[in-house]
Amino acid sequence: TDGPDRGVWRYREALPFDLGVTLPEGDTPLHEAPRLEADVGVETLRIKHEGMNPTGSFKDRGMTVGVRVAEELGVGALACASTGNTSAALAAYGGRADLETLVLLPAGKVAAGKVAQASLHGARILEVDGNFDACLDIVQELAARGEAYLLNSLNPFRLEGQKTIGFEILEAFHADHGTYPDRIVLPVGNAGNTAALYKAFRELVRSGALDVDDVPKLTGVQAAGAAPMVEAVEEDADEIRRWEDVETRATAIRIGNPVNAPKALPGIRNTGGTAVAVSDEAITDAQRALANEGIGVEPASAASVAGLRKLRREGVVDADERVVCLTTGHLLKDPDAAYEAGNDPEPVANDVDAVLELLAD
Ligand code: F0G
Repeated sequence: TDGPDRGVWRYREALPFDLGVTLPEGDTPLHEAPRLEADVGVETLRIKHEGMNPTGSFKDRGMTVGVRVAEELGVGALACASTGNTSAALAAYGGRADLETLVLLPAGKVAAGKVAQASLHGARILEVDGNFDACLDIVQELAARGEAYLLNSLNPFRLEGQKTIGFEILEAFHADHGTYPDRIVLPVGNAGNTAALYKAFRELVRSGALDVDDVPKLTGVQAAGAAPMVEAVEEDADEIRRWEDVETRATAIRIGNPVNAPKALPGIRNTGGTAVAVSDEAITDAQRALANEGIGVEPASAASVAGLRKLRREGVVDADERVVCLTTGHLLKDPDAAYEAGNDPEPVANDVDAVLELLAD
């Protein structure tokens, strides 16, 4: 049953409510990936696959809490700007709570699976002639004018739910290895997860449950065509410089103004982590490598593995490290990207001999 003892709500003592609008979410696998581990060259590599949530991304963890708050406040309508996954989760959880949902998407830049979800779960979908950052500017203004309740990761209750990614990683990794991971590598868009994981670890340290020396190094990865966080980390800047022109095959993280940077930059710095940019080609290679281990992810998710590979090659990550890579969304979110990266189907006549002939080639 969808109760408080499963997934995200198992951690209710660290959350603002005992139970939310649940499908249920969380309790995602921490996969082994032995060939990838050997290929990257680290002591331990585990893949936390957030694509296994109800709508296929980590956004469900934040939405179960966020929609609960909206119910508490008695709002009538929910809204978000989105590169796709937030809109899918908002539509599903909002629908379950019988609330109206409005989503603003950058026209032509959202993967097909995500628009399909938002559509069928009943969101009103506005396709904006602009990028994600422009959509977020607009929806913030709508929220300020009282038109709808904002459920982007600017909403702190979203990040409360996303803290549970950190709790699950530490718990599962410790159960298998008797120790905590040295490093967690994750894709960065708005830097919500980076901020949420840092908050989770700080709370664990303050409560005495985790030694400060055991906090994993938070390591963010962006696509080279949308890397303002990497720029800020490299320049040791206190503030992000907004990129107006962004482009990447990993449309989920096609973001030029990471709104959670003020919370996420200290997380990267204070844990001894770093940030790195990767090419679209490296993302595609990592997506294939994960798929060869049976782990199907969308391009943005593969950025974590591509980033780890690059940092290992550069010697920033050591060979004796124990690493967890976060994969944030499911392969089926972006079927077009999967087709492009994978094998082409081969047409063949309706005939055994024709099939054998083709296979002999
Ligand atoms: N990976 C995926 C698959 C995402 O959908 C997102 C963000 C991120 C990573 C970045 O996470 O913002 O916490 O750094 N997607 C948002 C959306 C922007 O609208 O679905 P972050």
